[in-house]
Amino acid sequence: MGTSGMTMKLKDKIVLITGAGSGLGREMGLLFAREGAKVGVNDIRPESAQNVVTEIERAGGVARPFVADVSSSAAVRKMFADFLAAFGTIDVLVNNAGIGRTRESTELLGTTDLTDEDWRLMLATHLDATFYCTREALKVMIPKRSGHIVNQGSIAGTAGLPFVSNYCAAKAGIIGFTKSVALEVAKHGVIVNAIAPGFIETPMTAPLEPEAKAWVIANTPLGRMGEPADIAAAALYLASDDAKFMVGQVISPNGGWTTA
Ligand SMILES: NC(=O)c1ccc[n+]([C@@H]2O[C@H](COP(=O)([O-])OP(=O)(O)OC[C@H]3O[C@@H](n4cnc5c(N)ncnc54)[C@H](O)[C@@H]3O)[C@@H](O)[C@H]2O)c1
Repeated sequence: MGTSGMTMKLKDKIVLITGAGSGLGREMGLLFAREGAKVGVNDIRPESAQNVVTEIERAGGVARPFVADVSSSAAVRKMFADFLAAFGTIDVLVNNAGIGRTRESTELLGTTDLTDEDWRLMLATHLDATFYCTREALKVMIPKRSGHIVNQGSIAGTAGLPFVSNYCAAKAGIIGFTKSVALEVAKHGVIVNAIAPGFIETPMTAPLEPEAKAWVIANTPLGRMGEPADIAAAALYLASDDAKFMVGQVISPNGGWTTA
């Protein structure tokens, strides 16, 4: 795959991307495979994971599905056991799985409207999962003194967004976790960074109400939402050797969105 073996950024690298059955994770899976990686496609939805594996294989790449709910520490432990049995090691982990809302609602959910479950599910899906997967990956990466971990933050975690305080807390938590772990493991040869995308066209943002979309576009100096490829390119950089001097950084492809 790729144009030439010389230019592939992830040749023979073993990669696990969580939530890769859709949107940004899918785009990363396709790009990383084109760049020579063998890709573990995690998703909680079996069909989504399998569909992306099939897409990668049809394009000539190597991929396998790993169906697991990454908010469960037992499921993550089992996924890593299966992953390591299949691929032997892990070079790159992308903690990307996520949800935009905890229940169907066309109403804006203020903080007083959030149930305990809305809070727990959001934190578990993003923050607990990032911790569980990072913990397992480091058990392999630290002893072999190499590896890259890329965490999916958001402008929700850097600038903040109204009416999604659980989501913003989870994303800010991921960014703090990224900075700490990055400092801890840098001397072991493991590179840890985060991405903080602005609003990107994916199945997650598709249900946004027209007024919400207009508000997003009005607050984005480029005047439009981003494409999954904009985020996959940032992930590829952080996953590759090009980022070998990047420690605990947050890259924010966001069309110019600034702190509100
Ligand atoms: N789209 C955006 O504008 C945007 C902006 C900033 C950050 N993000 C973040 O990027 C990540 C990907 O978002 P997306 O837009 O591609 O969304 P998406 O809904 O298209 O894809 C997310 C995938 O994660 C999977 N998933 C959800 N919970 C899971 C779990 N517990 N275990 C395993 N898989 C699970 C879903 O099944 C889905 O396939 C998320 O963390 C999201 O918060 C998205």
